[in-house]
Amino acid sequence: MVHDTTTGARTPTRQLFARKSVEQILAEHEQGEGVRLARALGPVSLTALGIGGIIGAGIFVLTGTVAANSAGPGVVLSFALAGLACAFVALCYAELAALIPVAGSAYTYTYATLGELFAWIIGWDLVLEYGLGAATVAVGWAGYFNRVLSGLGVALPPQWTTAMFAAPGHAGGYFNIPAALVVLALSALLARGTRESSMFNNFIVLVKLAVVLIVIVFGASYVDTAHWTPLVPENTGEFGHFGWSGVMRGASIVFFSYIGFDAVSTAAQEAELPQRDVPIGIIASLFICTILFIGVAAVATGVVSYTELNVPDPIAVAMDATGASWMAWVVKIGALAGLTTVILALLFGQTRVFYSMAHDRLLPPVFARLHKSWGTPAISQMVVGVLVAIAAGLFPIAILGEMVSIGTLSAFALVCGAVIYLRRKSPELHRPFRAPGIPLVPIIGILSCFALMAALPIETWIRLFVWMAVGLAFYYFYGSLRTRRR
Ligand code: ALA
Repeated sequence: MVHDTTTGARTPTRQLFARKSVEQILAEHEQGEGVRLARALGPVSLTALGIGGIIGAGIFVLTGTVAANSAGPGVVLSFALAGLACAFVALCYAELAALIPVAGSAYTYTYATLGELFAWIIGWDLVLEYGLGAATVAVGWAGYFNRVLSGLGVALPPQWTTAMFAAPGHAGGYFNIPAALVVLALSALLARGTRESSMFNNFIVLVKLAVVLIVIVFGASYVDTAHWTPLVPENTGEFGHFGWSGVMRGASIVFFSYIGFDAVSTAAQEAELPQRDVPIGIIASLFICTILFIGVAAVATGVVSYTELNVPDPIAVAMDATGASWMAWVVKIGALAGLTTVILALLFGQTRVFYSMAHDRLLPPVFARLHKSWGTPAISQMVVGVLVAIAAGLFPIAILGEMVSIGTLSAFALVCGAVIYLRRKSPELHRPFRAPGIPLVPIIGILSCFALMAALPIETWIRLFVWMAVGLAFYYFYGSLRTRRR
């Protein structure tokens, strides 16, 4: 039993597991009082939102880390494996997003299948993916920004570009101001309007796609195929250090690169034709990015030896090796553009999940309040912006990044489970998009997520449990007290 302070009554424990039917969720969102989220996004913008959320720190940084430490040129196989795992999940996302086209994404799907408590847990989990993901990428953005500035002869004071809580072995500063500022600026843009943000996003996505294509096409002529032999260097005797276990470990690390395709599903309520366009956006963005990732990884490991890629800017290093110094600049600009749209997509996704949670009274109503003329959750966007900016200013990329993948993978596994559940429980519902091969596709999706999670370090698991414990305490003291009485 849970005590309800607003009425003095007690809320039955079964409410924790109460589910909403798909019809109920859709009807509630149709009723919406007053201002609605503006339907501003078509298939191209949705695909651009997905690509905007995907291509970022992963391809521009982790490719080198994985090639040098885990898989050698076999990093292309790591990208292929992680992309395949995401493809199974993406098909499940597409089915649910077309069936329940509301803003909450995985949170709402869980509400419809496992009930309120699990929905809360997944909503809390998604803060790791979206909120902390945005902070992680903002720190990466600041790193590239500082390198561009120093290339121009401008040096910012290091204590104001370094997080206070440094990673072990690194000196701490006061606050990472560029990381915090980019989050605040993009939050202001998102608050101002979805259409404006989407136009900005589409433009920058074009820039980063152009840069990635230039890297592949230009770099291809400098590839020395000898660098690809052997494709998978021999294992050193330790799990995850080259050999096939290295390819697997690499897949769990480069998985971060794919995070973001699911942000398309959080835009379902802002899509012009969600049933058709959201599945297109999810699947097309993932497909395009998988091809590009494999291309970039093949070029980077073909132009230089994988042993030279353990640097924060491996793609720039590979392009430098071609002797064309302008290419390193092209890459830096592409990386900055790439990281900008990832932050944008993740900040967007976070407020849309909060919007649905507040709609269900699991968060304060302010998170569901929309600006009268802009049609966006402007206050929520700025509150989220300030919190993410603080995280980005105080924590280093290593600590932030570790949490993002595990949170995302657990959400992905639940989404796959939700597809199986709803097919069995409500086979009659009209599904504008049907994932093929049920239940095999979602089952492989779940197993792939678990396999990738298993390859993550134990400390990450411990942090996940601590985060969940804090979330459950919050739910107990706030969420369950305020939930609409049924
Ligand atoms: N996929 C995003 C990135 O690599 C999170 O930056």
